[in-house]
Amino acid sequence: MTENLEELKVLCEGCQKCRLGATRTNLVFGVGVENAEVMFIGEGPGENEDLQGEPFVGRGGKLLDKMLNAIELDRHKNIYIANMVKCRPPQNRDPLPDEQEQCIMWLRNQFKIIRPKIIVCLGRVAASKIIKKDIKITKEHGIFTEKNGVLMMATLHPAALLRNPNNKPGAFEDFQKLREKIKEVCTHTYTE
Ligand code: URA
Repeated sequence: MTENLEELKVLCEGCQKCRLGATRTNLVFGVGVENAEVMFIGEGPGENEDLQGEPFVGRGGKLLDKMLNAIELDRHKNIYIANMVKCRPPQNRDPLPDEQEQCIMWLRNQFKIIRPKIIVCLGRVAASKIIKKDIKITKEHGIFTEKNGVLMMATLHPAALLRNPNNKPGAFEDFQKLREKIKEVCTHTYTE
């Protein structure tokens, strides 16, 4: 489609393929570096993200940044963060199957440009679409599987961790495993 994220974003800004295009304030395309070896995929923008045009900028985003920084990852330096759907679903409902279906081509094109070595799915919506339809995050978080040469792992969604702080240690463990995997397979994430 295009060879760089800037051009892809411009195309995406014109998207009205599903009903979410009509109600968005801003498109939430993604944030990060184009040569990221690690890509995080969330569900969809909430209110703050819709207002600011950037993924994970609310309370959940602050927690995510803290967990990222704990393993020397930074949304502006060495990773990329995107969502399954680029426009906010009203009342923060889950994106509907047809909305995900219409939107996934944008994510596929982001993936084709970035070519990450590792994908981390944040929460069930992304994990069930990308890793395994019937994935049980509470049991299967932190486990790496390989698909078409890309390592994939699901972890709990930051919003779920805010609702249920008891799960935070488990999520922090997932991030430690991620750090080890990055050291094993990535070439420049920790050196730039
Ligand atoms: N939740 C998500 O899944 N993505 C965001 O960008 C914000 C909240």
